[in-house]
Amino acid sequence: MSTAIRHEKLKAWVKEAAEMCQPDEIIWCDGSKEEYDRLMALMVKNGSATPLKKRPNSFLFRSHPSDVARVEDRTYISTPEKIDAGPTNNWIDPGELKATMKDLYKGCMKGRTMYVIPFSMGPIGSPIAKIGIEITDSPYVVCNMHIMTRVGTKVIDALSVDGEFIPCLHSIGAPLMPGQEDVSWPCAPMEKKYISHFPDENLIWSYGSGYGGNALLGKKCLALRIASAMARREGWMAEHMLILRLTNPQGKQYHIAAAFPSACGKTNLAMLQPTVEGWKCETIGDDIAWMKIGPDGRLYAINPEAGFFGVAPGTSYESNPMAMNTLHENIIFTNCALTDEGDIWWEGMDGAPPAHAIDWKGRDWTPESTEVAAHANARFTAPARQCPCICGDWEKPEGVPIDIFIFGGRRAGVVPLVNEAFNWDHGVFLGATASSETTAANIGSVGNLRRDPFAMKPFCGYNMGDYFQHWLDMGDKLRDKAPRIFYVNWFRKSSQGKFLWPGFGENSRVLKWMCERIDGRAGAVKTAIGLLPDNGSLDTKGLSVPEANMKEILNVDTDAWKAEVESIEKHFSQFGDRLPARMRQQLEELRKRLG
Ligand code: OXD
Ligand code: MN
Repeated sequence: MSTAIRHEKLKAWVKEAAEMCQPDEIIWCDGSKEEYDRLMALMVKNGSATPLKKRPNSFLFRSHPSDVARVEDRTYISTPEKIDAGPTNNWIDPGELKATMKDLYKGCMKGRTMYVIPFSMGPIGSPIAKIGIEITDSPYVVCNMHIMTRVGTKVIDALSVDGEFIPCLHSIGAPLMPGQEDVSWPCAPMEKKYISHFPDENLIWSYGSGYGGNALLGKKCLALRIASAMARREGWMAEHMLILRLTNPQGKQYHIAAAFPSACGKTNLAMLQPTVEGWKCETIGDDIAWMKIGPDGRLYAINPEAGFFGVAPGTSYESNPMAMNTLHENIIFTNCALTDEGDIWWEGMDGAPPAHAIDWKGRDWTPESTEVAAHANARFTAPARQCPCICGDWEKPEGVPIDIFIFGGRRAGVVPLVNEAFNWDHGVFLGATASSETTAANIGSVGNLRRDPFAMKPFCGYNMGDYFQHWLDMGDKLRDKAPRIFYVNWFRKSSQGKFLWPGFGENSRVLKWMCERIDGRAGAVKTAIGLLPDNGSLDTKGLSVPEANMKEILNVDTDAWKAEVESIEKHFSQFGDRLPARMRQQLEELRKRLG
């Protein structure tokens, strides 16, 4: 790094971390292509990265089989009082957690290099952006951070001598003793992994995992858990939401921010190619939205990230052609399969599976193998600017004004295709009660129903009851300038277990209905649960979904919803007196409407 570091607090923090972790050397990252290439070459040489013959400047990594996803059970929100972390977070007293982790950090970088990564979440200089500094002993993390955030000297310049930064300390937790041979994916055993957040100090300590959201600390740790706590204190919003721009045939633009639990198709929706004629969709972000009220009283959103860390399996030219066309070069693939031609492959890719491949564990694989070739949570790390449908304004420092919020989840039954909230409080209730069948994005069982409020259950950095109140407070500030709120379910199945809705590009029909609702041009019927498309207002022209399926997909089954009320009651009870009275009132009103 050419710039001399003049920020005393930053220098002192790095010195303190180095004294504790005892690395062999310290490198300040400058974010340059030369740095990226050098670290990749190092990882190719030591066997942890495989260059892909078929994709220029692209590499495959295989993680340790135990280090394949976020570890929610080992993730902590460490506030002085347990109640402030709330019932949805794991909690350990900050003093105790720091003592435990300091023991682990002691000497943990022996035999390794400590990298100091200055990064900006959001375009440097944006009024909504924040600066973080990640210390890590993983060159894989450095290269991923190069893609996912804005790294380097410009960030140090923006910090100047006393700018605010969020310290993020990361170690894979695998020191190398003299003469000890390294492995291709060093990490610590599960019981030593800790992903810890100290929201009162804007501090992140992560130990033991090299994977994704556990290790790329700008993403889930900073941009969601720490930022959500900052946002509450400072009166803005940090949400687990994609951002897209939809343009109608007349050229009118609508900006949509949508929250779905992990691996429910957020990246696909963000890169949607509308099937309805004349409508256009452009991507602004696929995972996180930071939003502030602008001078005109509307809510403006930026994507704090610079890349996509997308789930690979299931991504295809059919499901997401824009993602596929983003992945031709400059990509990091993790836990995908390797073909004999030197390309990657995963389940759900277009065409026939390869006759032979090397699976994500490095073993021979054929279509007859009993195990999958790519891990279900295999990922691609891709620069956002390479996406063919990236919006020209995606880096606009002031952000884009949000018109519509969407919540949703993966539900085989009960929840209809689309449902509009009666008003802001009802919309907050829809967000607060969002539910989904679990996926492979976190370690744990797949397919269980869980309430995932605002898709933030794993990411809210404080008491979720207080978070509901923060949403209500934001609505009170935004008043008639507040975005309208909708709830969707693309995943409803028939009694024979078949998806009722084709999804993907056809979801544009549902988005079109939303835009026409806010323009007062589409009708709706009032049901007990919200406003559903009335006869003919959802554009189904050219769609081959049988009439009976359309009926089923928009059906509100009163008995099933009465059971849902009981489950919501149970969900709400965990928040005790932190549950806002206005949420309890929404539940009572729903109960009454159901009769
Ligand atoms: C992600 C997640 O990686 O939500 O985006 O798990
Ligand atoms: Mn996510």
